[in-house]
Amino acid sequence: MLIVEALKSSSPIDQIQIEGWIKSRRDSKTFSFLALNDGSCLDNIQCIVDGGTEAMANLGQAGLGSSVSITGKLVASPGQGQKWEVQVANLTLLGATDQEKYPLQKKRHTDEFLRSIPHLRPRTNKYGAMLRVRSQAAFAIHKFFHDEHFFYIQTPILTGSDCEGAGEMFRVTTLKPGVTDISQDFFGQECHLTVSGQLEAEALALALGRVYTFGPTFRAENSNTPRHVAEFWMIEPEMAFADLEILIGVAEKLLQNIPSYLLDNSIDDLQLFNKFVDKTLLTRLENLAKGGPLKHLSYTECIQILEKSSKSFVYPVSFGVDLQTEHERYLTEEYCQAPVVIYDYPKSIKPFYMRDNTDGQTVAAVDILVPGIGEIIGGSQREERLDVLLAKLKAAGLDPSDYSWYIDLREFGSVPHAGFGLGFERLIMLLTGISNIRDAIPFPKTPTTLTFQGLTSNLG
Ligand code: 4AD
Ligand code: MG
Repeated sequence: MLIVEALKSSSPIDQIQIEGWIKSRRDSKTFSFLALNDGSCLDNIQCIVDGGTEAMANLGQAGLGSSVSITGKLVASPGQGQKWEVQVANLTLLGATDQEKYPLQKKRHTDEFLRSIPHLRPRTNKYGAMLRVRSQAAFAIHKFFHDEHFFYIQTPILTGSDCEGAGEMFRVTTLKPGVTDISQDFFGQECHLTVSGQLEAEALALALGRVYTFGPTFRAENSNTPRHVAEFWMIEPEMAFADLEILIGVAEKLLQNIPSYLLDNSIDDLQLFNKFVDKTLLTRLENLAKGGPLKHLSYTECIQILEKSSKSFVYPVSFGVDLQTEHERYLTEEYCQAPVVIYDYPKSIKPFYMRDNTDGQTVAAVDILVPGIGEIIGGSQREERLDVLLAKLKAAGLDPSDYSWYIDLREFGSVPHAGFGLGFERLIMLLTGISNIRDAIPFPKTPTTLTFQGLTSNLG
């Protein structure tokens, strides 16, 4: 039985079997108390092993991190802080742990240290909780889109086009070093890991109406910040027959729905983060879950607010500049003190696919920024007018023949459509208060960090 099930039992159980890792061990003259965890929930279950028994002999000196299988009785616990405990009848030591080598001792470890052992940190309370929150959040997202009649689609990871036009892509090749003739490469042309599934998602939305992707994306940006990783997961909904306003409505509903689901289903893990990571977390999530529209500002209004502010920014602001982290922080953390929806950006700083507004200067783009994290969602209404799209491709210096299938979609039954991308790891930061994205994904990939070293010297 899983520990999460045992702890939720409504009555004592005469015969139960549980497995887990020893999180703490306390020995008295006559007993050993083990706190056992199997990952199924944050709580440990207390197991009592009697001295002089075979179970005790099997346990031996096994300490923290050792794995055991136990059978026994689930009985009401006389101790404080737990409803149930296990009186151990039999114990098998599955895997002992050398206490000298085991890095996860019963004290607080720094995030930096834990990042060096990503294969073991999931056994700590905080990273176990982060991974359970990831799983629940993914489920909440699928449930949300399912209930809103979106279909879950899968878009390619290998691609020949650069959706965002930023050129920050990883190259995939089977060419031997030194061979430069691209016609000899696997696909006979350059291949990259996708930065976004959007363009393909558009094709599917223009057939199924409402679709979303939930998959890995890759960016070769050399950004060593607490908000960037080279491999991250993105949720990209795309809706036909929708404009920017409808899209923003979906994004707001999603950002209300996920915290609400987590508060209902993952409160133990959230409480851990509220206690040890961010004391304002639960209040913030409750406010998000209550809903109500977020604050909306046009890009032009943001520029005016920034110009009027008494702050001295490193990067000066004027219409046409991209908002820098310092500007985004001021807008969310000081001016709004809440998440903010920013729309209608200058077309000069946005990709070719965003729809031109009638003012001739801006596009129907939207970013949603949250305090402490910055941009969590980026999206737009798409340019559905054939002639305008062609002009935009050319203005961006792109060759329309590289986008011929994308242009076809405007040639055959084009409709207004819109979509956005939600960065999953940044969402996890929002849901947990974790301040470094490297701690919101199990095996983070950042510049110069692809692999990591194990601790054992026992390599056979
Ligand atoms: O704003 P971005 O670049 O938008 C797109 O890729 C669009 N094609 C999405 C769409 O309209 N379908 O990225 C979307 C989100 C960002 O708001 C951010 O949350 C996340 O992806 N993101 C990253 N997360 C972690 N590390 C990085 N390097 C990220 N780059 C973007
Ligand atoms: Mg963006």
